[in-house]
Amino acid sequence: MRLNGKVAIVTGAAKRVGRTIALTLASRGAHLMVHYHSSVREAQNVVKHARRLGVRAYPIQADLSQTKESDRIVRETLQHFQRLDILVNSASVYEETRFGKIREQEWDKHLDANLKGTFFLSQSAGKVMVRRKSGKIVNIIDSDTLKPYKHYLPYLVSKSGLDGLTRALAKELAPHVQVNGVSPGPVLLQKSWGPEIRRAILKATPLKRIGSPQDIANAVLFCIEGTDFMTGAIIPVDGGQHIE
Ligand SMILES: NC(=O)c1ccc[n+]([C@@H]2O[C@H](COP(=O)([O-])OP(=O)(O)OC[C@H]3O[C@@H](n4cnc5c(N)ncnc54)[C@H](OP(=O)(O)O)[C@@H]3O)[C@@H](O)[C@H]2O)c1
Repeated sequence: MRLNGKVAIVTGAAKRVGRTIALTLASRGAHLMVHYHSSVREAQNVVKHARRLGVRAYPIQADLSQTKESDRIVRETLQHFQRLDILVNSASVYEETRFGKIREQEWDKHLDANLKGTFFLSQSAGKVMVRRKSGKIVNIIDSDTLKPYKHYLPYLVSKSGLDGLTRALAKELAPHVQVNGVSPGPVLLQKSWGPEIRRAILKATPLKRIGSPQDIANAVLFCIEGTDFMTGAIIPVDGGQHIE
């Protein structure tokens, strides 16, 4: 699929990795729905940048844990553009949770936004794509679902669910819509992580560097423009951590 003139929804697009994905798609000529949850100013900034690249772009606010929001996001996209070609699910809740003290509310927060929200938005978007007999969905997952670490259990379970969701959706939406996953390793570290954690991450990374948001955006580009003969695939973009 060529991106030029297509319409993409990118969730969690106001900042960090989602922002880079959104602007990379815009740089290839895709019109954008810039989804955000609370980062309104940052989302407006992405919209401004995208428009400077010559595409149409609109911000859209939604809490993805609220399933009713998915139909609205797709409806507003169609009102603006009369088409929808691409959905990139990048929004995510990532919070430390200590085993033995994990509350139901923390479990639900991760599972509702990361897994349930991604499914319902993909279902709303997928129906439109199936009708048009064309579409791409890319889920941003996490390469650590293969090698879970401690203190983030609900997050890691939600992302393991996305591995399964990617494959199951790929079956449901074939043959005209392709669904794939990109699983980042460390590309933007949490501000609270000190030099020790950084050293440990580099030790566990064969390519001996932290990745960049652009590494992830490039893999998303490949899922969309690189080939139409790939579905249900999950690409680790993690400097080789999954083989360490
Ligand atoms: N950064 C990394 O090194 C890394 C490593 C592995 C995997 N990943 C994955 O790559 C993706 C992007 O990473 P990131 O670090 O850029 O993500 P992030 O900063 O942790 O989160 C992205 C966005 O998710 C949105 N969000 C949170 N809760 C939401 C909700 N209930 N409804 C709607 N949106 C919500 C937030 O939007 P607002 O700011 O507008 O509130 C946030 O800016 C994520 O799926 C992440 O799990 C990242």
